[in-house]
Amino acid sequence: MSWPMIPPDPDTPPCGPPVPVDGGWVVTRYADVVAVLTDPRYVVPVAPGGPPGTLAWLRGTVSRFSAPDRHPGRRALGVAALRDLDPDELRDAAARLTTRTLDRLHAERTSDRGGDGEAAGRVEVMGALARRVPLEVLAARLGLADPAAAVPAVTAVAAAYHPGADPAAVAHAERAVATLLAMSPPVPAEAAANRIGLLVQAADATAGLIVAAVRHGLATPAALGTAHLLAEVLRLDPPVRATRRVATGATRLAGREIGPDATLLLRFDAANRDPAVHPDPDRFHPAGPDQAGHAAGEAGHLALAGRSVRALTFGAGPRGCPGERHALALAAGVVEVLRARCRPAGTPVRHAPHPTLRVPTSLEVMFR
Ligand code: HEM
Repeated sequence: MSWPMIPPDPDTPPCGPPVPVDGGWVVTRYADVVAVLTDPRYVVPVAPGGPPGTLAWLRGTVSRFSAPDRHPGRRALGVAALRDLDPDELRDAAARLTTRTLDRLHAERTSDRGGDGEAAGRVEVMGALARRVPLEVLAARLGLADPAAAVPAVTAVAAAYHPGADPAAVAHAERAVATLLAMSPPVPAEAAANRIGLLVQAADATAGLIVAAVRHGLATPAALGTAHLLAEVLRLDPPVRATRRVATGATRLAGREIGPDATLLLRFDAANRDPAVHPDPDRFHPAGPDQAGHAAGEAGHLALAGRSVRALTFGAGPRGCPGERHALALAAGVVEVLRARCRPAGTPVRHAPHPTLRVPTSLEVMFR
């Protein structure tokens, strides 16, 4: 079987030594990105807090933007909530909700349009499924009182989550934080913030992974198992393209002097194509036939010539994504149903402008 090439996005930098850009550094090689993520001298930019219940409070209370002294305890709150969720059950629930949604859309459209016409068979995956299903499934299991209503609220917070968001998005997110707190189970404020943090972290990246996997999956042979499809899409079309760290003192990275307070942009999209770890980096390399009951968490590990090289899209080290297995399970549930029931509509995919994420704005498919 011959597998497609997936060339890099035009703005993905080539792999090489760290490059100075705008007073900071851009890091592109696999080994250099891992070195920074696992070195405590490089820290996550911290978000200042704000009055309780505000977006600034949420940012200042979640583990994601916490200083090193607060991070482990806050991360543990999110990890404890995730421990109660079984990835296999998440996958099944995501598949069921996807099936129900497609059934409803199919019934509505065939009755609205008399059952004919191309438009009747079209489904916009991003809005109808990718943005909705993972969040609704997760919100229900995290005990939010109204999981369906949580979806737009989480999406609004996600749009303003990273410091520097535009004022209209921030105003919308302020109301959404209040909505989410009102529907959260009664736990201490720090735990509530970190449970909402799980949903917000899940939102854009999981939706982006689903849409990219559907897009590439409908173009690859059906024999390719969904776990391997997700692994290669995470490597070659990653929904999270980069993350940032700040140097706490003078350090050296790959022979370069990194000054105190320098910002490093770690490019997962470039590092995932590093020829030092991927001999034919732009080619889709499924690790082999999917195993029945394949553990979703193993999908992020790509076996190459007997080695296991992990795409860096979930990060690495003490801040690496704690929701990897959950994200893969939720995405697999949605993608499997779509691959079985839909075909490409042939419309182009555009991506929302964002400094570190690569999230499609829409993707149309058609019922088979
Ligand atoms: C395809 C989907 C996802 C991708 C690509 C992704 C990627 C990442 C990455 C790269 C980080 C680390 C950022 C850094 O080190 O600067 C991260 C952190 C995090 N992710 Fe994910 N994520 C995904 C889905 C999820 C899901 C579904 C959840 C929750 C169920 C989640 C929860 C978190 C949390 C709580 C953090 C912060 C961890 C900490 O503060 O230590 N993510 N994610």
